[in-house]
Amino acid sequence: MSNKPELLSVESVRVQFPDGTVGLSSASFSAQQGEIIAIIGRSGAGKSTLLRCLNGFQEITSGEIYVSGESVHSMGNTELRRLRRQIGFIWQEYNIIDRLPALTNVLTARLAHNNPWQSAVGFFGSEHRKIALHNMQRLNLMHRATLRADRMSGGEKQRLSIARALTQEPDIILADEPVASLDPELAWQVLSDLSRVTREDGLLTILTLHQVHLAVEFADRILGIAEGRIVFDGPPSALDDEAQTKIYGGRLPQLHTSEENYLKAMA
Ligand SMILES: Nc1ncnc2c1ncn2[C@@H]1O[C@H](COP(=O)(O)OP(=O)(O)O)[C@@H](O)[C@H]1O
Ligand SMILES: [Mg+2]
Repeated sequence: MSNKPELLSVESVRVQFPDGTVGLSSASFSAQQGEIIAIIGRSGAGKSTLLRCLNGFQEITSGEIYVSGESVHSMGNTELRRLRRQIGFIWQEYNIIDRLPALTNVLTARLAHNNPWQSAVGFFGSEHRKIALHNMQRLNLMHRATLRADRMSGGEKQRLSIARALTQEPDIILADEPVASLDPELAWQVLSDLSRVTREDGLLTILTLHQVHLAVEFADRILGIAEGRIVFDGPPSALDDEAQTKIYGGRLPQLHTSEENYLKAMA
């Protein structure tokens, strides 16, 4: 066994909001490079709260989170900036800058790697452009490079935000409901792309999803959350009726294992 720390370790994390609501309670799990983990659960279960703790967006009330062996809880501003460079984030609503061309949006991921004076004048050297263009190519967006982001379709915008996250050259990608704004066919396509590129790069990918079918299809591992607690942690094949009852409090329709069945079911 190597002495290298786990990429991510979450230990007994509790989040209580100022109004007293408990968002998470004793959440523990650890994760390795290369895993694709889907967090599932009902609305309000604590999925987004868990994800936001991982890059320090959400303060924790107790417990510990370690990324590459370093405690997120005790990081100062400089360390948090470094952490957020190591973690790419993908939002449901894309969070891209509408009036800027696609390529410029992707290049913003290089800001943290740039000299401050270069960023101040909007200058990105050729090595940054090379990385950005390479990732746009991987997401089949080269023909869109000069297009203003607001002219792009929803599926293209989400592929753009995946290209941007990769251009940060992160170790971890977090995605909060990345396909919730897309219709089922596009959702499938975007998750195929996301899982393909993060597997190619050996990144740890953690995403929240509210369709269990998508989690089963694209994740290696599923974390089920109910009322702020992790009530299931296992491979998709272990997500039986009992597990689903624990997570959702009731039986769900049969799982669909192929895209065709999934699309039929959603039609
Ligand atoms: N800033 C906040 N203040 C108070 N309660 C919050 C806040 N953010 C989330 N919550 C509550 O915490 C619980 C978990 O929320 P969330 O993580 O957003 O759920 P999910 O992403 O699974 O839908 C919910 O009950 C939600 O209302
Ligand atoms: Mg959420």
